[in-house]
This record gives sequence, C-alpha cells and structure tokens, in this order.
Amino acid sequence: MKKRFRAAAFVLAAVMALGTLTGCGSATAEGDQQIIRIGHNQSTNHPTHIALVAFEEFIEDKLGDKYNVEVFPSELLGSQNEMVQLTQTGAINFCVASNSLLETFSENYTLFNLPYLFASSEAYHASMDDESITGPIFESTKQAGFEAVTWLDAGTRNFYTVDKPIETPADLRGLKIRVQQSPTNVQMMQLLGGSATPMGFGDVYTALQSKIIDGAENNEMALTDNGHGDVCKYYSYDMHQMIPDILIGNIAFLDGLSEEERAIFEEGFTLINQVQREEWVSAVENAKDRAANEQGVQFLYPDTKPFQEACAPMHEAMLEQYPDLAPIYDAIQAYNEQYPSES
Ligand code: GCU
Repeated sequence: MKKRFRAAAFVLAAVMALGTLTGCGSATAEGDQQIIRIGHNQSTNHPTHIALVAFEEFIEDKLGDKYNVEVFPSELLGSQNEMVQLTQTGAINFCVASNSLLETFSENYTLFNLPYLFASSEAYHASMDDESITGPIFESTKQAGFEAVTWLDAGTRNFYTVDKPIETPADLRGLKIRVQQSPTNVQMMQLLGGSATPMGFGDVYTALQSKIIDGAENNEMALTDNGHGDVCKYYSYDMHQMIPDILIGNIAFLDGLSEEERAIFEEGFTLINQVQREEWVSAVENAKDRAANEQGVQFLYPDTKPFQEACAPMHEAMLEQYPDLAPIYDAIQAYNEQYPSES
C-alpha cells in the first residue's frame, strides 16, 4: 500500500512538473509525438481500463505518428479529485471522474447524483445516451477548463456493511457509512439515518479494515476489485443511485485539435462508451459470483420503497434550487415511464 502511495506521489509530482513546463492544455511532446495522459482510479481488470486501452489502440492506429496515448490506472496520478484538477490545468489531458465529484465544479451535475432518479437501468442508459439530456450538463464545466466527452457505466450503488445486514433505513442508524465527497451524497445519508463519512475511494478499504467506518456504498465491483468484500459480508440491494462515471478532457487540448483529429477523437470516445458498457455486464456478473462464492458475501434484497421515500424530498428541493434543470429532469421522467422499474 505504502509503496503504491509513494509511487503515486512521484508520478503526480512528475506530471505536475511536466504540466508546468509544457503549459496548460498541451499534450507533452516527445520527439514529434505528443503524449496524451489519461488517469483513472480503477484496476487494470476493470471495464473502464479495458475501454481506455481500446481508445489508446484506436487513436494510435489512426493518429500514431502524432499522438502517444498513456493510460494510468489505480490512482497512479492521484485521487479522482486531484485528477480532475490536473485535467483542469492541462497537466494531464483526460481523467475519469465519478459524476458525484463533478457537482462541486458545476451544479448542473447535481441532477445525476439524485437518489432514485432513474427507475431502471434501461431508463438510466436511455437518458445518458440522449444528448438533449447530457449536452447542457456535459458542457457546463467549459469555463472551469474541462468538458465531459463521454459517460461510463458504474452500475447501481447499494449499501454494504461489515457485520450488520441493512434491511430498512432504520438499520443504518448509528452506522458510519463512507460516501463519495459530494453534498448530495452527504444529504442522502442524513435522510436515510446513517452517519455520512466522505472520503476518497482509495482510502475506503483501510477505513473498513480498521473499523473507522461500518460500511460503504457502491456497485458490486468494489467488493472484488477493491477487496471490500473481504471485510464486508452483507450487500443490500436498496438501489439508491445510478451514478455514471464521466470521462472529462482538458478544454485547451480538445480545442487545439484540428477538425479531422477531433472527429477521430469523437469516434474514440464513442468506442470507449461501447467497450466499457459491453464489458460491464459480465464484469458485474463475475464480481457477484466471486463475492458470494470466494468472499462469503451475502446478497440481500430489501424492499426499496422505504429507502426511496426517505430520499424523495431531495427531488423537489433540487428542482427548487436549480429550476433550469427542470426540463432535463422531466425528460428523464419520460424515460422512467417508458422503462419502469421491474420490481
Ligand atoms: C465507483 C465509480 C468510481 C468512484 C467510486 C467511489 O467505483 O466507478 O468512479 O470513484 O465508485 O465510490 O468513489
């Protein structure tokens, strides 16, 4: 672990120094080639990494004389928050950030963080594929120096705990639950009765192991890929959020591409989305199987209604606070009607 952090600090320092030397937004030149750095916080088995490697191959196949794409997994370039800042300044070109974190950069992102926003994964996918829904949100951080170029599936977030099964919101009372660092997630935990403990993803395993927290919430991959299922033995399908991951790119870099290059990059972004979503389906099935059979995690299927009712006031409050998001919220409701919940 310590070794990993030392390596991360070193790479981060090196990348920041490079960013300073080369100036904002430019990919680093190496000979005639420019290095394009992409950071993310997942392992090399994860669908996100597999998809980014497909992008690397695609870009190098089409534009290899000019660009050399390097993908940095496992928080090698820092935590997601740090990577967003590196992307903002142009020290790196792209990173994958959870939508949760982006709400602190543009309030528009708050919408996709709402608990129980999407009625089903079909409604979630249809909404995220609809540019009239994502466009105004994805472009809203341009002034902050970055733009979302595609989204990635991060499944459904559910609670998991070390030793107390969660069947109703009352079971969360008195428990310290790690949430992502966003005001919406802290508020959600408060409404559900648990004690929100925001922290970066890379710190969760140690916090669980040392009992600083009683549980966390995430998709099934966190159990296996991040080892959380070695410590947490109960995973409850309360289905509270479907929060996409977002690939963001430095604006100066994107704007500096020629029209032809930009078209190729856009094809590459579409490829990332396709590969990641295809890989996601089997990755989640495998994770569930491994968690149950190798880690001894018990999967629980509580009635989701009481959880949903506890969080319902957040929808109205958000629409009051951000009235401009109402048309987008309504468009998502139309998909919810078309693809209702199966339960
Ligand atoms: C998921 C998501 C990540 C996020 C993590 C978290 O793994 O894909 O982007 O960082 O949850 O809970 O922080």
